[in-house]
Amino acid sequence: MGLFDKLVTTALPLAPKALVRIVAKKYIAGETLNDAMATVTRLNDEGAMATVDVLGEFVESSDVARQETEYSIKTLDEIHRRNVNSNLSVKLTSLGLAIDNEFAYGNLRRVVAAAAGHGNFVRIDMENSPYTQKTIDHFRRVRAEFPDNVGIVLQAYLRRTEQDVRELSAEGANFRLCKGIYIEPPEISYRDFDEIRASYARALDTLLDGGCYVGIATHDEWLVEHGLRTVRDRGLEPAEYEFQMLLGVRPQLGDRLVREGHRLRIYVPFGRQWYEYSLRRLQENPKIAGYVAGDLGRSILRRR
Ligand code: FDA
Repeated sequence: MGLFDKLVTTALPLAPKALVRIVAKKYIAGETLNDAMATVTRLNDEGAMATVDVLGEFVESSDVARQETEYSIKTLDEIHRRNVNSNLSVKLTSLGLAIDNEFAYGNLRRVVAAAAGHGNFVRIDMENSPYTQKTIDHFRRVRAEFPDNVGIVLQAYLRRTEQDVRELSAEGANFRLCKGIYIEPPEISYRDFDEIRASYARALDTLLDGGCYVGIATHDEWLVEHGLRTVRDRGLEPAEYEFQMLLGVRPQLGDRLVREGHRLRIYVPFGRQWYEYSLRRLQENPKIAGYVAGDLGRSILRRR
């Protein structure tokens, strides 16, 4: 861990909540479902689709996991009621995966069934490696019942992803491909920036060659260019893939993709737990703090 990273990890919990709020505002839609829907409506007006994430993970109480499940269903109902272009992203630990496998599966099944009832879709986020296999198992099981209403995320930094890509693409699954955000041990993950990029590019090529629908989730311009080349070389229509980005990150790159006719989906996190979520993300991966600091610096310079 570098000096800056150490500083961030120790100093962050001491920062006033108001200060964290100012920084987090750009990346989080707000505290309420109304806030999330307002952001989704704005994004839709700008030509982008959305995926809404109710903030909350690593739930240790079954009551809280049940509440999270209800809230996810309520969010799907609201998306339907407002007729906005958005699906839902969920983390299985927020539905109780850290408590009990079957309990979490029952909750996930309810959420996916609710999405299916509205003709919508649930993307199961991928969390840290203790949950990788369980997440894939739950995905396969729920997909058997609702093949068009659920998709999974694969992380290019995991060494196992090459094998997962081969197996899951043969099953015709719907993917989001990302680099991976958690800090994982070197035995199971690539650490080198170029190795992760190469793994991402290989996985994307295999998925598209396998005829899978892929959400190309990255803000890395090199990978975006690779993605554009890859879909062009295969003669894919814009409806056969999409790019995905996080709310507030590299908006100019997203605007360019929309202008050029590609589908773009923005990940919209919201919820009362925005503060805990922001702290945890920054502490888990201080690289993000570097990105945020760089971004703040650039916007201050732009304003001068
Ligand atoms: P890279 O890390 O090289 O970033 C490229 C540039 O983008 C940076 O230089 C910086 O300017 C900017 N940037 C990237 N992330 C930023 C951030 N958080 N804040 C500010 N600036 C940032 N991971 C995971 O493990 N499981 C998951 O389910 C998901 N889901 C997911 C959904 C979507 C839609 C996206 C876009 C990403 C995820 N991720 C994820 C996160 C992903 O794994 C990865 O950590 C980030 O996307 C950063 O990787 P990039 O590919 O953007 O490259």
